[in-house]
Amino acid sequence: MEENAVKELTKQGCMVGREAAEELTEQDVELIRELDTTPMYISVGMVKKLRQKMSQEVSTGSQKQVVKTRPDGGTEVEQETSTVSSSDSVSEAQISEGQNNTQENSMDEDVVVSKDGESDNGVEEAEVSETGEDKVSEPQEKENEDSQNQGLDEDVDESKLNNDLDEDEQEIYERKGNKFSSDKTVRLRDSGRRDNLRTKVEVMDEAEINKSEKDVPEFLSYYNDRYDRMRKLLTRRTQLQSATTIKRLKNRDEGEQATTVGLVNDKYSTSSGKYIVEIEDKTGSFKVLAGERQGEMIVPDEIIGVQGNMGGDIIYANNIVRPDLPIPQGQTATTDETVKGAYISDLHIGSQDTLHDRLDRFAEWLNTDAASDIGYLVIAGDLVEGVGIYPGQKEELEVADIYAQYEMFEDWVDKIPEDIQIIVGPGNHDITRLSEPQPKFQDKIFPRIKDYDNFHRVQNPQTVRLHGIESKGLKHLMYHGYSFDDHVDRIQELRENAYDEPDRVMIDLLKRRHLAPTYGSNQLSPEGIDHMVIEEEPDVMVSGHFHSHAVSSYKGVNVICSSTFQAQTDFQKRVGHEPDPGKVTLMNFKNRETEVKQF
Ligand SMILES: [Fe+2]
Ligand SMILES: [Fe+2]
Repeated sequence: MEENAVKELTKQGCMVGREAAEELTEQDVELIRELDTTPMYISVGMVKKLRQKMSQEVSTGSQKQVVKTRPDGGTEVEQETSTVSSSDSVSEAQISEGQNNTQENSMDEDVVVSKDGESDNGVEEAEVSETGEDKVSEPQEKENEDSQNQGLDEDVDESKLNNDLDEDEQEIYERKGNKFSSDKTVRLRDSGRRDNLRTKVEVMDEAEINKSEKDVPEFLSYYNDRYDRMRKLLTRRTQLQSATTIKRLKNRDEGEQATTVGLVNDKYSTSSGKYIVEIEDKTGSFKVLAGERQGEMIVPDEIIGVQGNMGGDIIYANNIVRPDLPIPQGQTATTDETVKGAYISDLHIGSQDTLHDRLDRFAEWLNTDAASDIGYLVIAGDLVEGVGIYPGQKEELEVADIYAQYEMFEDWVDKIPEDIQIIVGPGNHDITRLSEPQPKFQDKIFPRIKDYDNFHRVQNPQTVRLHGIESKGLKHLMYHGYSFDDHVDRIQELRENAYDEPDRVMIDLLKRRHLAPTYGSNQLSPEGIDHMVIEEEPDVMVSGHFHSHAVSSYKGVNVICSSTFQAQTDFQKRVGHEPDPGKVTLMNFKNRETEVKQF
């Protein structure tokens, strides 16, 4: 420990964690001093990340491709220096094709611990709470969502709106000072077959996206925010109501009960197949010995609850607790009238493999009487193939200009009836930045259709309430799914089947209440607060990205992974990934029943 370094920071009002104090050097203090503001708390993880970030900035400055418009209207791809790792721009290699993430993973290190460290001590291993909570075959579970018919008409004032929210929701919105940020109630222009069908789209809790370069304080406040919010979700679980800080645990005697919440700093497998997990909170860090199955499911940076017994300088975990969704009670959220949503994603327009005929068949079907109860079309990203997404992509493009690709998408939108509300969020092939949260598409991307009443651009991720007219409607959590590749790669159970059953990874993330538990899995852009926390329970979770298809439900949430309208690419052929294109999920909001149509 360099005592002067710690004193220096303490003098500036910065609290230094015990482990961090051991690590801290004068050089670190210099780095911290250069920041605009002194962080309130420094943990050992933060020190490491700060060093990492600084060394990246100094040493690498890897290249990122940026598409710019030329004065003649064409586009060109430029290289831009950024601090993002070089694997970022090769995203396709990690996407639907299921390739491994190239990040180094210290978790995989197989270390042998001393006999004392791994002895059983008579502590029994309990299964993680995941058991028995796996996907339920088809929807229709009941949940505790209040479905009273509270009016949410566009004329309602904000105080009225607050009364309609349950306590948790109200708290979330009050804290963010942002209730329904961009309500857009749509006037129907079509005099056709949907004249009895009303629709309403509300974009909830839109993130304030700061596009400037991120500095370390934002990383620090991001981690603090993630910890605080996840801890709050975790301590709602009865098993964790007696959770204490790590500092207090240290005074406990061997054999005493130990319940705490911590961020996972590191994980090592032992020679007996168990795992030693290092967790950290704002007061210190501690080691946890977890059983094989529980340990396997733990990923870096996630925040877990631990229940167990003290064993000297380690907790013998009986149970690893995740925040999870509450057990559904009461009536599932529904609408009074029959209205359906259609769910698609990954159109990849502009690729030689785009299935235009199937897209057109789907659009034609939307114009038939059979589709007259479809009120909403939810598109969860990768609208176009993009350019410069992966090496060699140019050869597989049908349209090399990204703006021309979006123009083709506009042409397709023009085939959709005007009174179907279209909600589009970006994916990793789209023109918005790769870092999440991704901002919504800019006006210039859709010069022709940007002002259509029925065309709604949203961020990624984004919660959208659909059809909150006479009931509360259905809260849709839209997330394209870029983090799925990394997450799946870290957990054997998911690795084995997630590409064929993509709802598994979605349900896993619902249990963790986080869309990207491991830092870096989603090109995260820390905004001071962690937008990837699943703070409120959605009614529907919608993703794509895997190019395979699944519909199921979990604890009252309809889980929909939309397929694609792109055939197998040469790249996918090479890596043996078979997409499942042309499948469209339909869901009736009145009874939450789903069906799948093949186009
Ligand atoms: Fe895709
Ligand atoms: Fe994708």
